[in-house]
Amino acid sequence: MASQLRLRSALALVTGAGSGIGRAVSVRLAKEGAAVAACDLDGAAAQETVRLLGGRGSKERAPQGNHVAFQADVSEARAVRRLLEQVQACFSRPPSVVVSCAGITRDDFLLHMSEDDWDRVIAVNLKGIFLVTQAAAQALVSSGCHGSIINISSIIGKVGNMGQTNYAASKAGVIGLTQTAARELGRHGIRCNSVLPGFISTPMTQKVPQKVLDKVTRMIPMGHLGDPEDVADVVAFLASEDSGYITGASVEVTGGLFM
Ligand SMILES: NC(=O)c1ccc[n+]([C@@H]2O[C@H](COP(=O)([O-])OP(=O)(O)OC[C@H]3O[C@@H](n4cnc5c(N)ncnc54)[C@H](O)[C@@H]3O)[C@@H](O)[C@H]2O)c1
Repeated sequence: MASQLRLRSALALVTGAGSGIGRAVSVRLAKEGAAVAACDLDGAAAQETVRLLGGRGSKERAPQGNHVAFQADVSEARAVRRLLEQVQACFSRPPSVVVSCAGITRDDFLLHMSEDDWDRVIAVNLKGIFLVTQAAAQALVSSGCHGSIINISSIIGKVGNMGQTNYAASKAGVIGLTQTAARELGRHGIRCNSVLPGFISTPMTQKVPQKVLDKVTRMIPMGHLGDPEDVADVVAFLASEDSGYITGASVEVTGGLFM
């Protein structure tokens, strides 16, 4: 999709910005004119994303329109509160676009899955999105600003997947959380939508055995895995006023897989 400047006055907070989909989203939103607060658990990776965007890479005093890296663990309430405070202190406003891309997998079959693997995936993928959505919405409501919150779920949250009870449950939860947030926040001018990618070429899918990827690829009507930019295109649309009457939606970006 050709790049436009639909987000010229926006400040976008992107979590999981140090890799894969989060990095592609950061690049795309910056190309559309947004200032990007790029957050990741891996602070060096977030800084690298900001370097790609042509920003300063430090959280002290961002000049207008610049991009800044932040380090935070989205599964920790205190860290998320501090993140929102730092972003607001840095840019003198709350983020009007919030994209939660931070996510992990810890796969195992149901019969063998450990409590720790269950808890960690739910903590990052579901509680993390709750904490970021809540903190961002609180900041927007208290400053009277409108916004667009975009949560990255997964098609697996809709159809399940072998070896991913924890991941599927977390991603199904993200859809319900986002729909509920959309109902509650519409009156404040805050839209909330989720994006359900299929299989996208990122470090996350590099962990999937090639045999499984080949099998999945044969099931995709488009005939190939998606690129992170395919997801970023949809996120940019949902962030912009071009989607001004869309809220509570779950948009699939799957190449037709599991339609
Ligand atoms: N790649 C796919 O095929 C695919 C498909 C559907 C959904 N998704 C979802 O898209 C999102 C991005 O996935 P990706 O493929 O780009 O993965 P990725 O592994 O390339 O990137 C995930 C990023 O999240 C960060 N992160 C992990 N835990 C964090 C935490 N606690 N706090 C802050 N940051 C944290 C990581 O450091 C990493 O930079 C995830 O939510 C994932 O579940 C991916």
